[in-house]
Amino acid sequence: MFGDVDFTVIKLIKTPQEDQLVIEHNGDGLKGTISIPGDKSISHRALMLGAIASGQTTIEGLLLGEDPRSTAKCFQAMGATISELNTEKVIVEGIGTQGLQEPTDILDAGNSGTTMRLMLGLLASQPGKFFTVTGDNSLRSRPMSRVVKPLQQMGALIYGRKDNQNAPLAVVGQNLKPIHYHSPIASAQVKSCILLAGLMSEGKTTVTEPALSRDHSERMLRAFGAKLDIDPDTNSVTIEGKTPLIGQKVIVPGDISSAAFWLVAGAIAPNSDLLIENVGVNPTRVGILEALQMMGADITLENQREAAGEPVADLRVKSSKLKGCTIAGDIIPRLIDEVPILAVAACFAEGTTKIKDAEELRVKESDRLAVMALELGKMGAKISEFPDGLEITGGNPLSGADVDSFTDHRIAMSLAIAALMAKGQTTIHRADAASISYPTFVDTLQALT
Ligand code: S3P
Repeated sequence: MFGDVDFTVIKLIKTPQEDQLVIEHNGDGLKGTISIPGDKSISHRALMLGAIASGQTTIEGLLLGEDPRSTAKCFQAMGATISELNTEKVIVEGIGTQGLQEPTDILDAGNSGTTMRLMLGLLASQPGKFFTVTGDNSLRSRPMSRVVKPLQQMGALIYGRKDNQNAPLAVVGQNLKPIHYHSPIASAQVKSCILLAGLMSEGKTTVTEPALSRDHSERMLRAFGAKLDIDPDTNSVTIEGKTPLIGQKVIVPGDISSAAFWLVAGAIAPNSDLLIENVGVNPTRVGILEALQMMGADITLENQREAAGEPVADLRVKSSKLKGCTIAGDIIPRLIDEVPILAVAACFAEGTTKIKDAEELRVKESDRLAVMALELGKMGAKISEFPDGLEITGGNPLSGADVDSFTDHRIAMSLAIAALMAKGQTTIHRADAASISYPTFVDTLQALT
């Protein structure tokens, strides 16, 4: 099977329609030290809070992917001054919580659910201003009612396609009233949207969620001066409205969701010893570490520290003998974006891996359960799809195939790691999707092989 060729091909073929990533690997282990791009969630929040704070915010380590670029463009269109995006230092001149200007054109969130959902909380609470918001094909089909409904409970006027379910959306800004929202889903985008709308409203707004989702908004809002009460026993956050935000220095750690591809690659490729530097290890994001360790992965955290209110570590991964396990329940929100790459790990684990309670995957940038079942299936994986998850029986070699990202960044990169360990050549169509969250993914892949 794998390892019977003495050459490696990692080739990007650019056509006018798509980038195709061609992969065939000789089986050598992955060795060395790498760093990864900045955290996508934190990058969005730094740009947004910087824009609505008073004074200057500096951001070090911003992710230069397409998604944060969408956020930057939207807030520039509403009057914030944001310097050219780079990883060293981005300067945001904030315009204050009530300073957002009515844009002269449609705000385009591109592929980014975080941009659209968080921004809606801010737009809905700008009295007397009118906004229209849209996105790409994928984003226009994703559910927006999960934020539109609670915002309407606060008094928002929002109109959209399919009974306010889908973008394009029109927003007529209002003075909103605070609510206590019991979210039916553990979603940081929903929670953050309501908290931002609450920040703009007189009084106290509370969000309670069924399980804890990532808490980057809470950490950063506090750092910018917002008053928050957090009740960990009930997964509730309360924000006091009308508190001004003051610009800050934000240091963005590496994105654990991007590190996840190398953690799995290092674990499944024989003779690997890989150090991934400067990775954000916020407890609400480390489900991937717990799941891989449960499967037997040799991962250690080194040089643990804190940077600008977020825990950070260097992660070392060595080749490991993985075994199947069940991943379900409260861990799911803490590894929500890593399910596609976990499915790849499961293909190389002895026994059966069950991923349950993950129906949210169906409304991400693609239907990630259906797409991973289809595409890994083409490579010979024993994988079955369920309404809320996947079941994968590992230990059978994968074979190279023609596969498709469905324009979903995490699918493109997960398939690339599967391809690295498959026999024969794989072509990943529409691989350019990776630039949404990891524009240098192919460079790192080439450097490591
Ligand atoms: C994100 C929250 C998650 C995650 C997304 C980023 C965020 O979405 O999947 O990639 O930055 O708040 P949900 O809140 O919809 O689960």
